[in-house]
Amino acid sequence: MSWAALLGLLVLLVALALLATRVGRWRRPGEPPLDKGLIPWLGHALDFGKDAAMFLSDMRKKHGDIFTIQAAGKFITFLLDPHSYDVVLWESDSKLDFNRYARLLMDRMFDVRLPDYDPKEEKTLLRMTLQNQNLSSLAKAMSFNLWNILLSDPSKNGPQWKEEGLFHLCYSTMLRAGYLTLYGNEGKDYNDASVQAKDRAHSMEIYNEFYKLDQLLMKAARSTLSAGEKKTFDNIKRDLWELLSVKRLDCRAYRSVWMDCYKQHLVDLGVDEEMQTRAMLLQLWSTQSNAGPAVFWLLFFLLKHPSAMVAVQGEMQAIFGSRKQTIGQAHEMNQEKLEKTPIFDSVLNETLRLTAAPFISREVLQDMLLRLPDCREYHLRKGDRLCLFPYVSPQMDPEIYEEPEKFKYNRFLNSDGTEKTDFYKGGRKLKYYTMPWGAGINVCIGKFHAVNSIKLCVFLLLSYFDLELKHPDTKIPGFDKERYGFGILHPETDVVVRYKLKDL
Ligand code: HEM
Repeated sequence: MSWAALLGLLVLLVALALLATRVGRWRRPGEPPLDKGLIPWLGHALDFGKDAAMFLSDMRKKHGDIFTIQAAGKFITFLLDPHSYDVVLWESDSKLDFNRYARLLMDRMFDVRLPDYDPKEEKTLLRMTLQNQNLSSLAKAMSFNLWNILLSDPSKNGPQWKEEGLFHLCYSTMLRAGYLTLYGNEGKDYNDASVQAKDRAHSMEIYNEFYKLDQLLMKAARSTLSAGEKKTFDNIKRDLWELLSVKRLDCRAYRSVWMDCYKQHLVDLGVDEEMQTRAMLLQLWSTQSNAGPAVFWLLFFLLKHPSAMVAVQGEMQAIFGSRKQTIGQAHEMNQEKLEKTPIFDSVLNETLRLTAAPFISREVLQDMLLRLPDCREYHLRKGDRLCLFPYVSPQMDPEIYEEPEKFKYNRFLNSDGTEKTDFYKGGRKLKYYTMPWGAGINVCIGKFHAVNSIKLCVFLLLSYFDLELKHPDTKIPGFDKERYGFGILHPETDVVVRYKLKDL
């Protein structure tokens, strides 16, 4: 082909692309403001992927609290008014579907393809296994497993100072103990040192593989893995499937009710063993990917805010007793005790307000009218996606929280020490003032177990170890921005701490 012909072809392609943006989608009367970006089809995909929080905050300034953007061929309407979230959360799933996108991600990230099932029924079934009477047996198992990982490990429990990344310490401890609690132990005797050592070794293997997978999961979710990364990703998954095979899981002691119930649910759906194993990895991610990062941020904020640290330690000492406990006593923390920690709860709420950034997403299944409580009405088009991003509002909204970017440990405490729940926007009290656990069908079914687990881990770490930042003037690390939309954010870089067992 001659240069002239090539140039002609290029000009034609550019003209067609420009034409596509002109004849492509236009805002119809009654629809939210539409922002297609400058690049045909791709739209705002690059800016959105780079830093969703900043991009959406800028869009909110430009268009208000509801707008539609184009990103990689998809049109997504963002609603950022927390007073209106209920309208989306409780709309019928014949109009706004939660399941389709969730299934797409399950396939992209974990190769899980399940037969049709009712996600609401599944959640109801599994919710019971993580709540009510199962909560205290889960807390007890978590307590034993945390103890094994933190206090029975000869590499951790010596009197000399050790240095480690705080993120690594928290994520590995929580994931390993959380995994053992839900997926079971290597043997029946908790007090057998060889069983404990096997539990530590096996859970470490799981964590190491999982951590490698986690580094590639966001790209997998966005289908942006390079060919080389895809190969590595597939190999790690294969190793994890080996470790989590249902045959191996069947032989484990003290599997949780949740685990057995989920497995039976898959069997009832007619899912074969290979797909069951894949689903076990998906669930490892669903259940273990958030609590470790949450413990990291919480401890980091405490280390940077001495008054908060003193308040939390004082409360823990008063409620759980002195640190001179034996293993048996440490496990006797009943649910009642675990729930009497208003200061800790405020610190946790504040930590999650600052670091939890899940999207709440729905597919629009039919052309429909979205009626907001303030009487605004918007037409939505079939095939688009509707998305809430509570991180931008309410969580980081300066109209709701004074200096929203700052950690204030008592933000969720009233002056009489009770939990503060009244926050306002536009003069009206908010139902949703922070949403780290999602809401509606997207709500976390493991919330109460997660809170117990986080509390137990922080309690053990602060009671039994001297823990300090290696460099006390360490700045708060930035977020790994590709994780917006997927739960608790990770830090861009780890923070080195020193720790050693306290002299009891
Ligand atoms: C700080 C810790 C945690 C946070 C912030 C958190 C948050 C969330 C959120 C936002 C969702 C909804 C996801 C969606 O449907 O879009 C979710 C789902 C879920 N969470 Fe948690 N979670 C945490 C810890 C845990 C723990 C420790 C468990 C352990 C049992 C757990 C179990 C689950 C399960 C089973 C689901 C349902 C996944 C599904 O829909 O299939 N979570 N969590």
